[in-house]
This record gives sequence, structure tokens and C-alpha cells, in this order.
Amino acid sequence: METNKIKLHHPQLVRLLQMAYSAEKAAAFAYQGHAGSVQDPEEKKQIKQIEDDEWNHRREVLAIMNHYQVPVSVYFEIRFHIIGKLISGSCYVIGWFMPYYFAGRLESGNVCEYFRMMQYFHESGITEHNEILYEMGIKEKEHEIYFLSKIKNKKMLPFFEKLFGWGSSKSFNDVDLDQKYPVEASKKYCRK
Ligand SMILES: [Fe+2]
Ligand SMILES: [Fe+2]
Repeated sequence: METNKIKLHHPQLVRLLQMAYSAEKAAAFAYQGHAGSVQDPEEKKQIKQIEDDEWNHRREVLAIMNHYQVPVSVYFEIRFHIIGKLISGSCYVIGWFMPYYFAGRLESGNVCEYFRMMQYFHESGITEHNEILYEMGIKEKEHEIYFLSKIKNKKMLPFFEKLFGWGSSKSFNDVDLDQKYPVEASKKYCRK
């Protein structure tokens, strides 16, 4: 049976989907380098799990894109491929702290991408992706908290926090895992 495909008339949403799809690949590549560069087997395993999470996100975003016939952006695919590989390689030369720090900082920014996507869908009258977008946004928050937990007692953190605007007391999102909104209320996240 032929299903009618709906088109999205929301340029910001289309762009955000295309960017998120490609950026998930960059993240997954980066975590390959990160996992490869740490010595501790437990850390390797945890970072590998996060890499798998990002490949999952990429699949989920693609499923949504296909649903609305949103094409993959060749430009973003190439751009984020290069970025991901560069970050991956750099993990082997910049020491232990920085890959953890910048991963956490990046994840912190990614959280709101999925909640903003949800808001954009709502602007188009679509609520059917709420669950999956919520799940992905919360997962990015878990990633942020994991990376922060690894470095929060390191003495370099206050210095980096001051310099790069993320750390124990500064985040790029307003999600609190200990007091989460339920899915229905989560459109309140990331409003500022
Ligand atoms: Fe992700
Ligand atoms: Fe993530």
C-alpha cells in the first residue's frame, strides 16, 4: 500500500534535521578516537557505548527525515565527516583531560537540538515524534553528565570552565536529570 508522504514546510526544522543527522556521525567518529586514546578498559567501554548511542541517533533522525522526504545534505555530510575525523585524530595528541572536556561541552549543546526540533514539529502541528526526540535529548544529557563526572574533580576544570563557558556550574541547557519533566511537559526545555 502506498502511503502519502507529508512534506515539512519549516526550513529551520529541515536544516536542523540535516545538521543533526550529519553531526551525529561526527560525534561517533570523535568517540572512536576518544575510546582509542584512553588506556582504561572501563573508560573505553563507556565511550564505545556512547559512540553506539550516536549511531542510533543518526538512524532515528534518518527515519524521521525519510518520513518527510527530507534529503541528506551532502554539504553537511562532508563537513561533519572531516570534523569528526579531525577530532578523532586529535584525541591521541591532546592528553586525557581535553577530549573529556570538549565532549562534555559538545553534548551539553546537543541536548537542546532535540528539544528545539520537538518545538519546531509542534509549530507544524506534529506531535508524533515527541517520545523519540525526548529520548534522544535526555540521552545527550546523560552523555554530558558522564563526561562531566569524569573531570569534575580535576584541577584544570575551573580554568577551562572560565575559558570555554562550560563545566560544573555552567551548562548549555536547562535539563536536570534528577528532576526531569515528563515527555508532555518537555517542550518547556530550551526556551531561552
Ligand atoms: Fe547523539
Ligand atoms: Fe551524545
